[in-house]
Amino acid sequence: MTNEHERNLAPDVTIPYLGFGTYLIPDSEAADAVHAAIRAGYRHIDTAEFYQNEAGVGEGIRRALQSEGLSRSDVFVTTKLWPGNAAWGQTPKTTETTIQSLNESLSRLRLDYVDLYLIHAPFDRQQRLAQWRGLVMLKEQKKARTIGVSNFNISHIEELKAAGLPLPQADQIELHPWSQKPTLVRYLEENGIVPIAYSSLVLLSTWRAAPGHDSAKSEAMRADSAREDSLFKRLARKCGVSEAQVLLRWGIQKGYPVLPKSTNAERLRQNADVLFVSHRRRRHGHARYPRSRGWSGVGGGRPHEGGVRRRGTADCRGAGEWAGGDEEPRFVRHGRKLAACIGTRTLD
Ligand code: A2P
Repeated sequence: MTNEHERNLAPDVTIPYLGFGTYLIPDSEAADAVHAAIRAGYRHIDTAEFYQNEAGVGEGIRRALQSEGLSRSDVFVTTKLWPGNAAWGQTPKTTETTIQSLNESLSRLRLDYVDLYLIHAPFDRQQRLAQWRGLVMLKEQKKARTIGVSNFNISHIEELKAAGLPLPQADQIELHPWSQKPTLVRYLEENGIVPIAYSSLVLLSTWRAAPGHDSAKSEAMRADSAREDSLFKRLARKCGVSEAQVLLRWGIQKGYPVLPKSTNAERLRQNADVLFVSHRRRRHGHARYPRSRGWSGVGGGRPHEGGVRRRGTADCRGAGEWAGGDEEPRFVRHGRKLAACIGTRTLD
């Protein structure tokens, strides 16, 4: 099923469009950040062995499940294998050490399984296939519900195909208006591989601006993000939303799950407010999504149809009328404004 808040990763597994990225969140802050994110409505958390914060992330998930009355299956969790890079003096992982790595990640996270396990990068030509075989085995062992890759290009995926191995179910890559990768995205969609976007907020002046934070932002991007008349600032003003919300909506309208990270409470909420989604806990203690009334959602994988279209009665007066009456219209306001403003167009 593909709708306005999630898309299929496998016949029985959906991935929420809105994910909470945890790159650069220290382990000591990760539990609070992840707890806050789930309380704010995120149901998709992205971490990695490389981020060195899996213990904190797991703690935050546990706290949130308890405080929000959620089950493990309500939250989609991704982690990533650090494959090892010989060029950096590291020993590339083998099939065996790949399997060991997820087991170690699971014990840091204190989870029985992850929803998605990715190879973080295609570093080692010799070991890539061996590592992928490890992920295939981990999926068979039900330690990972789905498996995929990150930062892989077409040739890396073709290697897996040529070896007769199952294809990845997702490829997490840098995707934003400055890095659109149309050939790779078309290839992924044609091969049933879901593109997941990272660095969606790269145009913002605040993006990874803290001392010591890695930033791949070029001088041209810096200049463009500073311009008051940039397309995204103009769209944000026109739509009455923030530039971050336009950038996130750009990804989601193209059918890409996005992974904004923020440790600022206001920005955390703002980033979540780009969908027609209200995650408030219901009387039944379980987060649900409002059914679309009068609006259709984001079409995964069909960029030309990917916009949010107006259909029938479009007057959504608040979440009460959508979802059972006992909640605030939390993440509806800006998602609705954005859809009305941007309409069915994809922003190329
Ligand atoms: P902060 O955590 O202080 O909010 P990425 O997810 O690509 O790593 O980007 C995260 C970066 O973007 C962080 O520096 C984060 O800072 C900043 N950021 C996140 N959300 C917003 C927002 N809505 N407006 C401005 N900056 C944001």
